[in-house]
Amino acid sequence: MADKGLRIEPPPDFVAGHLARLHEVCFAPLPETPWSAHAFRTLLRLPTTRALIACANDQEISGLLVARVAGYEAEILTLCVAPAMRREGVAGALLGQFFEMLEPDTRTLLEVAVDNVVAISLYESFGFTPVGRRPGYYGGPTGGTDAVVYALGRRASDNAPCG
Ligand SMILES: CC(C)(COP(=O)(O)OP(=O)(O)OC[C@H]1O[C@@H](n2cnc3c(N)ncnc32)[C@H](O)[C@@H]1OP(=O)(O)O)[C@@H](O)C(=O)NCCC(=O)NCCS
Repeated sequence: MADKGLRIEPPPDFVAGHLARLHEVCFAPLPETPWSAHAFRTLLRLPTTRALIACANDQEISGLLVARVAGYEAEILTLCVAPAMRREGVAGALLGQFFEMLEPDTRTLLEVAVDNVVAISLYESFGFTPVGRRPGYYGGPTGGTDAVVYALGRRASDNAPCG
């Protein structure tokens, strides 16, 4: 599907409201706090933010990736695809284009709920490996769900020291 008119590009400022709606629809069944249009607008304006949207055949925005990049470290803050567009390669296309934006030696980190088997399958198919666990990271009425921290790329210890 990724070659059937799928465009991957940085989002213009005026789509912040669309991104908030997409994010809410995508994460509705999970114990996530929806991000507001204002939050998206603020995030997209930060110089360290890298964002990509996927649009199929000039229709609605069907996928979104937001990350922050500082030096040789990147963190994927969110990645989601509209329910009707899933399993058609949209997330894979977003991730692929995101990696093309990075310097070759960049280490990319992300958190994913331990029970989000679909996302874990996606990240592992790209070579991400688990490097940590954050107990109760995703709050919820029954005590929260652990996050697994995944990484791809060089190790943090390879980074330049502080100071
Ligand atoms: C996770 C998510 C972004 C995947 O988007 P997608 O566009 O459907 O994913 P793709 O079609 O690009 O799939 C790429 C790979 O991911 C894995 N994958 C995707 N959907 C899967 C499913 N339902 N079951 C198992 N593996 C799946 C597979 O490895 C797949 O490769 P394959 O199709 O060659 O087997 C999407 O399901 C989503 O938005 N989920 C809700 C939000 C979310 O959980 N985001 C991640 C937070 S960390």
